[in-house]
Amino acid sequence: MERSLSMELVRVTEAAAIASARWMGRGLKNEADDAATSAMRTVFDTIPMQGVVVIGEGEMDEAPMLYIGEELGTGHGPEVDVAVDPLEGTNIVASGGWNALAVLAIADRGNLLNAPDMYMDKIAVGPEAVGKIDINAPIIDNLRAVAKAKNKDIEDVVATVLNRPRHEHIIEQIRDAGARIKLISDGDVAGAINTAFPQTGVDILFGSGGAPEGVIAAVGLKCLGGELQGRLLPQSEEEAERCRKMGLDVDRVLMMDDLVKGDDAIFAATGVTEGELLRGVRVSGTSSMTHSLVMRAKSGTVRFVEGQHSLKKKPNLVMND
Ligand code: FBP
Repeated sequence: MERSLSMELVRVTEAAAIASARWMGRGLKNEADDAATSAMRTVFDTIPMQGVVVIGEGEMDEAPMLYIGEELGTGHGPEVDVAVDPLEGTNIVASGGWNALAVLAIADRGNLLNAPDMYMDKIAVGPEAVGKIDINAPIIDNLRAVAKAKNKDIEDVVATVLNRPRHEHIIEQIRDAGARIKLISDGDVAGAINTAFPQTGVDILFGSGGAPEGVIAAVGLKCLGGELQGRLLPQSEEEAERCRKMGLDVDRVLMMDDLVKGDDAIFAATGVTEGELLRGVRVSGTSSMTHSLVMRAKSGTVRFVEGQHSLKKKPNLVMND
């Protein structure tokens, strides 16, 4: 995969972030998502790659664009799997909350897990705690392992958990262990990635969220030398059957190499709303400022990119109004 592809891919997430940020706080999550999807789709056509969407906006008959199986790119260049989440945190944008991202990941063809759209139980940590966590172990053991790996007291470990009734037992166990919690309303891709950045103040992510988001976060953590373990959580016999048909064993713990094989992978994200790691899109009359993160697993290079986009010269950056 060309090194320069990383910088090209930031243009894709920047466009999606700019388009969806215009819907911030308007209470219209679908409109925000459509704006991000359409902007992302347009810019993908300019990227020199032969991409196929393996994680996208839905099956072909459900989504007008970025559907699973859709071909992306100019048709020249590396053959890659593409995972997109044009707007990760639709409710966050609708309510003007924290940590909404426009995000994507690519890897060599055949290397991304084609995760079905269902829940996945997840545990994620940054580089210091790699190899020390176990999704099958009690919460307290994982907290102790992270505390030891990061040389802190368990009381100083901060766990991120999606604020959902289904996570009450996890929250209780974290509190009983004496650790601290950051409850998030949505956005567990940011929740997972943030564990690898000391400035975010979080050490570990627990709980279930979307399986597609799990794969995207795993690519990010692979670039950062972190770790995510997952287990698919079908909620019905129909979902369990879908897993069986896809050859996915729901009892198996999905380790990093099951989620993303090898290390030729790129992760790109742009902040839509403000977050601990990335600033949201800011508009100043004639331009939009973006803040992005782009990383390549092979080299381990992590770049933060600030963009200033002229809305006068590129009016199509604000499509779907
Ligand atoms: P959307 O952007 O599709 O709304 O997803 C947001 C999100 O919070 C993800 O980050 C997370 O994986 C999933 O939803 C959790 O699902 P649920 O809201 O059903 O608990």
